[in-house]
Amino acid sequence: MLAIEEQSFATDRMMRRNFRYAILKAKGVVLVADCQVGSRSDDCPSDMGRRPVAYGVLGFHAGTPLARLTSFAVEPGNRGRGIARRLLSALEDAAAAHGCAGLRLEVRADNVAAIALYAAAGYRRFAVYPAYYEDDMAALRLEKPLAARSPATT
Ligand SMILES: CC(C)(COP(=O)(O)OP(=O)(O)OC[C@H]1O[C@@H](n2cnc3c(N)ncnc32)[C@H](O)[C@@H]1OP(=O)(O)O)[C@@H](O)C(=O)NCCC(=O)NCCS
Repeated sequence: MLAIEEQSFATDRMMRRNFRYAILKAKGVVLVADCQVGSRSDDCPSDMGRRPVAYGVLGFHAGTPLARLTSFAVEPGNRGRGIARRLLSALEDAAAAHGCAGLRLEVRADNVAAIALYAAAGYRRFAVYPAYYEDDMAALRLEKPLAARSPATT
């Protein structure tokens, strides 16, 4: 996950300790998409077994029914194959199964690919944080209401 993070973000990266906290202590969910044996990707030959190619970190917070997507990335060699769309849907399922009524996230205002992904998945902008990132880029705040659903039915 650290390797994917380092290949995916130039600023505001999650550190090893942030991943450890998210996995071991935080109230939330960390989902990883594995490379499948027999995958079409040249980066995942079958004799290497499974390895993560994408991840998403969700936080749940007391006092709010809204989950927050705090980090989300697909490794560069596996982008454009629908992995983010499916992983985002699985994260939404996990949030809904936890009882969350919606999901919120921040995205860099210049992140064309991620903004298109979230728009196609039904996220709508509700606010902007100016100079939110280390390089002073603004963040768009996006939100999607979640219908109650069970992972068993998806
Ligand atoms: C944004 C990111 C997660 C997309 O991952 P991906 O697996 O390539 O996305 P998918 O293949 O599932 O694409 C789903 C949809 O996202 C949009 N999308 C994805 N990449 C895009 C691009 N380069 N340009 C425009 N739209 C894009 C499209 O709407 C696409 O649907 P379509 O294929 O039917 O057109 C990936 O580029 C990434 O990890 N970027 C770096 C980290 C990052 O920006 N994370 C988000 C932080 S908020």
